[in-house]
Amino acid sequence: MNNKLNKIGILTSGGDAPGMNAAIRAITRTAIYNGLEVVGIQEGYNGLLRGEYEILDARSVGDILQKGGTYLRTARCEEFKKPHVVLSAVEQARKIGLDGLIVIGGDGSFRGARDLTRAGLPTVAIPGTIDNDISCSEYTIGLDTCLNTVKECIDKLRDTSMSHNRCSVVEVMGHGAGYIAIYASIACGADCVLIPEIPFSISEDVIEKIKEGHKKGKKHCIVIVSEQLLDPAELAKTIQAETGMETRATILGHIQRGGIPTMRDRVIASQMGAKAVELLLEGKSNRVVRMKKGEISDIDIEEGLAMKKELPKDLIDLANMLSI
Ligand code: F6P
Repeated sequence: MNNKLNKIGILTSGGDAPGMNAAIRAITRTAIYNGLEVVGIQEGYNGLLRGEYEILDARSVGDILQKGGTYLRTARCEEFKKPHVVLSAVEQARKIGLDGLIVIGGDGSFRGARDLTRAGLPTVAIPGTIDNDISCSEYTIGLDTCLNTVKECIDKLRDTSMSHNRCSVVEVMGHGAGYIAIYASIACGADCVLIPEIPFSISEDVIEKIKEGHKKGKKHCIVIVSEQLLDPAELAKTIQAETGMETRATILGHIQRGGIPTMRDRVIASQMGAKAVELLLEGKSNRVVRMKKGEISDIDIEEGLAMKKELPKDLIDLANMLSI
């Protein structure tokens, strides 16, 4: 690749997240403002491998800011773990004439970005996932919109649980991280929350807690469970059998990934998009744009991937204290 930056590509990869369109728009317009050409690669790394792209101008990214999903579409690409596949992606990038690439996605997508940089295509990554599970960044694009959707759904479940004196078990997404569950627990007033970061026992942390709550006058309850920990329908049966409280299970599922991006997601995605272009313009690559102490900054992808993210203990303590 030459060192002069003329044309850059953008792709979205992994699960979509509300706010990705704001990032695509910001990247495109920042790049054009700075005299660059921009290409939108379709369907993540798969589209790069197939050479599927469109030229983006300032108008092509008009009217997408307020939409959920990703204008460029997205995909997961297992094949991208293979070195020869990465090399053929770099080959395709050369054919398209790309001098740099911006990847919006989760940590799997970041590994692809790192491999592309190593293979000769300067790449910058932006954290876009509802899970907030990127170690080097306090925030990932999509979390806020997802949490607002979850809040709306659980508020509705509370209405009907309250009316019927029932227990409602609600499974939320998270991909091995409890951010969605813990924030939802605080914002929606859950009685119990089960997350991957904290070992739990169904009998102590759920059944006994519900029985205790009943003694204290609680007539209905909400149990929030992070995905992949257990079968919510089975948990509902156990709660009903052990507490005598009629119980229903709801899996919120992919509804959490859609919807109109919130103000927070639009603003942060726009800031991160602009920053990613600035990094490429400065000749930097293999960087992740991230939020640290509330500010947008950047870090080496490798360093970022090696970091471990801990769910703040004060959030867990707060959720527990408020559930008495
Ligand atoms: O990473 C985002 C996410 O929505 C996770 O919360 C969830 O585990 C996963 O993607 C679902 O993936 P898919 O859309 O492939 O079913």
